[in-house]
Amino acid sequence: MSKTRIQAIRGMNDVLPEESPAWHFLEAQFHAVVKRFGYREIRFPVLEQTQLFKRSIGEVTDIVEKEMYSFDDRNGDNLSLRPEGTAGCVRAADQHGLLYNQQQRLWYQGPMFRHERPQKGRYRQFHQFGVEAFGMPGPDIDAELIQISATLWQALGLAESVSLELNNIGSAGDRNAYGQALTAFLEAHASELDDDARRRMHSNPMRVLDSKNEAVQSVLADAPALADFVSQESCEHFEALLQLLQSLGIEYSINPKLVRGLDYYNNCVFEWTTDQLGAQSAVCGGGRYDGLVAQLGGRPTVAAGFAMGVERLVLMLETLERVPESYRRPVDVYVLTASEGLSSQALRLAEAIRAQCPGRGIVCHCGGGKYSSQVKRAFAAGASLAVVLEAAGDNAPLSVKIRQLAGSDDVWTGELSTIPAEVARLLGA
Ligand code: HAM
Repeated sequence: MSKTRIQAIRGMNDVLPEESPAWHFLEAQFHAVVKRFGYREIRFPVLEQTQLFKRSIGEVTDIVEKEMYSFDDRNGDNLSLRPEGTAGCVRAADQHGLLYNQQQRLWYQGPMFRHERPQKGRYRQFHQFGVEAFGMPGPDIDAELIQISATLWQALGLAESVSLELNNIGSAGDRNAYGQALTAFLEAHASELDDDARRRMHSNPMRVLDSKNEAVQSVLADAPALADFVSQESCEHFEALLQLLQSLGIEYSINPKLVRGLDYYNNCVFEWTTDQLGAQSAVCGGGRYDGLVAQLGGRPTVAAGFAMGVERLVLMLETLERVPESYRRPVDVYVLTASEGLSSQALRLAEAIRAQCPGRGIVCHCGGGKYSSQVKRAFAAGASLAVVLEAAGDNAPLSVKIRQLAGSDDVWTGELSTIPAEVARLLGA
């Protein structure tokens, strides 16, 4: 009886070797940029108490209502795979006393899980790079966060392909007042709404604004505007941020519809979007979340941050061909043998070449086989040089050739001891 092959879970991707250079390039640039801005890494689990996400992201959000992978573990504790990183980062930083009366600049990376309908750029397991800054109330830190993302786009060669949208969603108090006005408006139009909107108009009226239903959207055309409820203080913070962005030469546009899908934000929120990815246009999003630490039981600590979608950025890097060639070639030198019984010499020679050429990929052929099939493997590995060991007869010294594989078929011949230096010279190492 034939056994069916087990497949990966829908929306959860394998990253294959040919795709990993783009990931490595992105990771290297992200790590370099956050280091240059003085941020430190924090790691926290992929599983947390479900309550953590309910209390931070909001009970009446798509993520918590429809998208979390939640289950009872063997102790009966209700746990969820993290759908995003901010909640876990705040939980971890607060639990370990990193927040109160301190300033922290932190970053993280890793897989997140949301049970969304998979399509290009939208997956059920996806990865984020995130940055969170704690204890800094002014607009300068908001500007710094945006500057970090802008610096990364430059480093990746994506600056021309992304644009920045900002909005001011006001303080928690402003949003409360606005929520009440919105509820009153929606109640007056209840008969024109769908079930989802009618349910949310009391529990979380602002989420009705995200409705995909055209009938609901046409009702919303006359709804009160959030901008009319934003306090003077919040407006001043936002204006100061805009000034800072102008002084940094960062272009932006204001999008009054940008409210973000998570409840913890206040004041300025932002999103970087692209027209390169079709429907899933957001590559990075964030904003201030001054109330979240206290909401999760910590002492009040202001905060702001953002996260970017790694898969979406990888797609952009591939489409726009931005991954440098040096990331694509894992193998520079392939050591092979034209006579039998030379394995130990070959392994030792490969090791000597590695010592001479740090950072280069040196493969020693394993598994035997004819000379011609070994050469085929050297080409398939993408090596630019093949180093060929050949026995020259009884008691004669080994003959070693270096064959150029890419560009020309030049050959150099030398003694075993001189080969590593010669390879380094040819590679420009
Ligand atoms: P978010 O906007 O939900 O924010 O996610 C950030 C980014 O993750 C998105 O812009 C997108 O690029 C990527 N992303 C989200 N869902 C998916 C998906 N299903 N498949 C592929 N990529 C996806 C947050 O998560 C906040 N925690 C950001 C933040 C940090 N705010 C403050 N600090």
